[in-house]
Amino acid sequence: MYYLHRGKRCAEEECCPKRKNSDIIMEKSIISILAVSLSVQLMREYCSGDCCKYLAVGVCASLGLWYGYRFLIRPLDIQRKLADVGYKQHFTQNQWASKDKLHLIRSMMRLRKKGALPPVYPNGWFALLDSDQVNVNQVKYVTALGENFAVFRASNGDVNILNAYCPHLGANMAIGGIVKGNCLQCPFHGWAFDGTSGKCVRIPNDCSSNELLRKTASVKRWESCEANGFVFVWYHAENETPSWRPAADVQLTGRGWTYRGRSEHYVNAHIQDIPENGADVAHLPALHGHMALGGQYAAQADRSPWKWLGVHEWTASWRADGTRGGHVSALDLQHRLLMFGKFAVFNLNVEAQQIGPGLVILNFKTSFGPIKLIQVVTPVEPLIQKVVHRIYCPTYLSLYATIVLFMEAVMFERDVVIWNHKSYVEKPLASKQEATLLAHRKWYKQFYSANSKQFSNRKETIDW
Ligand code: FES
Ligand SMILES: [Fe+2]
Repeated sequence: MYYLHRGKRCAEEECCPKRKNSDIIMEKSIISILAVSLSVQLMREYCSGDCCKYLAVGVCASLGLWYGYRFLIRPLDIQRKLADVGYKQHFTQNQWASKDKLHLIRSMMRLRKKGALPPVYPNGWFALLDSDQVNVNQVKYVTALGENFAVFRASNGDVNILNAYCPHLGANMAIGGIVKGNCLQCPFHGWAFDGTSGKCVRIPNDCSSNELLRKTASVKRWESCEANGFVFVWYHAENETPSWRPAADVQLTGRGWTYRGRSEHYVNAHIQDIPENGADVAHLPALHGHMALGGQYAAQADRSPWKWLGVHEWTASWRADGTRGGHVSALDLQHRLLMFGKFAVFNLNVEAQQIGPGLVILNFKTSFGPIKLIQVVTPVEPLIQKVVHRIYCPTYLSLYATIVLFMEAVMFERDVVIWNHKSYVEKPLASKQEATLLAHRKWYKQFYSANSKQFSNRKETIDW
């Protein structure tokens, strides 16, 4: 996560106060407006007519350029926490014992009828961090998939992932650990572990008995890779080695392509609900038909003052894509925004490749050129998913891609409102037209195996 720190983006959460970017931008906007008002007032007092005009134009032009840069050129950064989407009306209801947002959400999660859920952690590659969130010689602590990871970038630039807990006395090596060359050194007694094998390579105060101990000591090393701007870990309930890899898309790093921003959402849902949305073509007009300007609630969008402007129209088809391996499926989506019932704009053809349980590459073909959106879904808890989208495009499409990312975030939040509260219906009352929904469930089953972890209500009850 990035915070603004003395005007620069900063990757160190610890060194910065936890303030939202939007708060800081708002603050700066107010200060700028006050500064302009004061300057104009002073100019009126002390300058002649022409001099005053030129100065006013100069100040306005500089501010225009600065805001132009901030909003149009700098990549967009949308961040939504658990309480930010889909709980608005609950915060004002008296039914809930506490007005504390997190407490309320946890109660709602506990009380929700969950249904006969599939296992909570499928087998496959999952993104733990964006690549630019872990710098050379830096270690990050990540909890996901019921595991505790120390993700670090070695001096040679490679990312390694080890179990966070040191086998010596259990210190968390991701908190205060030091990256040295290819190794992670534990902060407690200084044992060092090789990132590529997990073996202990050094115990301080070496002597012959320590050498014996060192040879037997090791920490679990997780299979990892980097692709499309993310660091992935391989998770498999049966400890099987990877049968496929998330191939890097060369276009993203190719000449003339640029990164235009990201969105990050935390969702209260089972992981399967999110990819299933692609095969659920029947929900598109009901949930995503109203203008994005209408906001995250479809019901509100239906009463929005922007409603008269137009409607989003979608057609879609889903299929398991055997040609690219059993772990790939494809969604073909056509979109247009029909304005005033006559003019079709924002024509998009999208091919979305679902690659394994937690990665989707969306290829947009727009009237102006291609855009690529990468979506990753990672279970940080059995029923809490972290979903990140990163968008890329040719440089000349920068502004258009920013708008697409913004609209996609609004549409995604309409799904989040549903996911946050839904129950899992094992045998849905699907119509004939909804056959793809059932086909998707069958396809997704390949990512579960005999030892995949099941959701347990019991643990949640004890926690409370
Ligand atoms: S706990 Fe890590 S070196 Fe002792
Ligand atoms: Fe949707």
